[in-house]
Amino acid sequence: MTQTNPATGLYSERVTDVQHYTDRLFRFRITRPQSLRFRSGEFVMLGLPADGKPLMRAYSIASPAWDESLEFFSIKVPEGPLTERLQKIQLGDEILLRPKTTGTLVNDALLPGKRLFMLSTGTGIAPFVSLIRDPETYEKFSDVILTHTCRTGGELQYGFDSVAAAKSDPLVGEEASARLQHFASTTRETTVHNGRITTLIETGEFFKTLGIPNFDPEQDRIMMCGSTGMIKDVRHMLEPLGFTEGSNNQAGNFVVERAFVG
Ligand code: A2P
Repeated sequence: MTQTNPATGLYSERVTDVQHYTDRLFRFRITRPQSLRFRSGEFVMLGLPADGKPLMRAYSIASPAWDESLEFFSIKVPEGPLTERLQKIQLGDEILLRPKTTGTLVNDALLPGKRLFMLSTGTGIAPFVSLIRDPETYEKFSDVILTHTCRTGGELQYGFDSVAAAKSDPLVGEEASARLQHFASTTRETTVHNGRITTLIETGEFFKTLGIPNFDPEQDRIMMCGSTGMIKDVRHMLEPLGFTEGSNNQAGNFVVERAFVG
């Protein structure tokens, strides 16, 4: 059984898979410490040994709580202290993990509801990739709507692959195929849907395209993860409609988290 290093308090894990999507984005998998427990949607501090000292950043776990390994989706920040090194990892390399996980993008922080909207930009899709493979998400909500907005079409691919994986998953495939909708849009390249999610919500094009009613605080619950600007703008749209923010201490009808970079 994997133990933390007594000197650093960190787990030492190994890279089992790496896939580069674009020159800005990649995903990777690592071994899971048997004693690490987390709720789908949470984040953990992850890093590399660097110049004798661990270099750690917060990363959302993109695999569900039941999975045997841990998946992450990362941006490559030019001259980012961690991601400059992390983007070069190879199979078998060492990854450090802090044992504690946390986060507000969890089913527990939301009041019961009918539809669950997950709004993401860029790497902010990661916690939702975890949640769309968790059976609890489909037990708590009858409809699950995942949105992902990126600059270019290539940046959307991880979302398409992850939704396809959920729909063919032996555990949640049936529920995901019937009740998970995926809406992907781009802002700096023309694809099927174009524009910021905030604009598409405001103009009503988002609801019209999916053929669904507008946000309703009575029955809808919303999770957001991604750019600070997107979170701020959606928050300003939701609060006048009567949506209240939830936390681990008090469930509400929306929850937010920034996507982490560095
Ligand atoms: P845009 O290209 O118009 O800035 P990034 O790659 O910089 O993290 O951005 C990811 C996506 O988030 C981009 O498509 C970007 O659109 C979008 N975005 C940035 N700010 C906002 C905002 N305030 N509201 C909605 N979407 C945003």
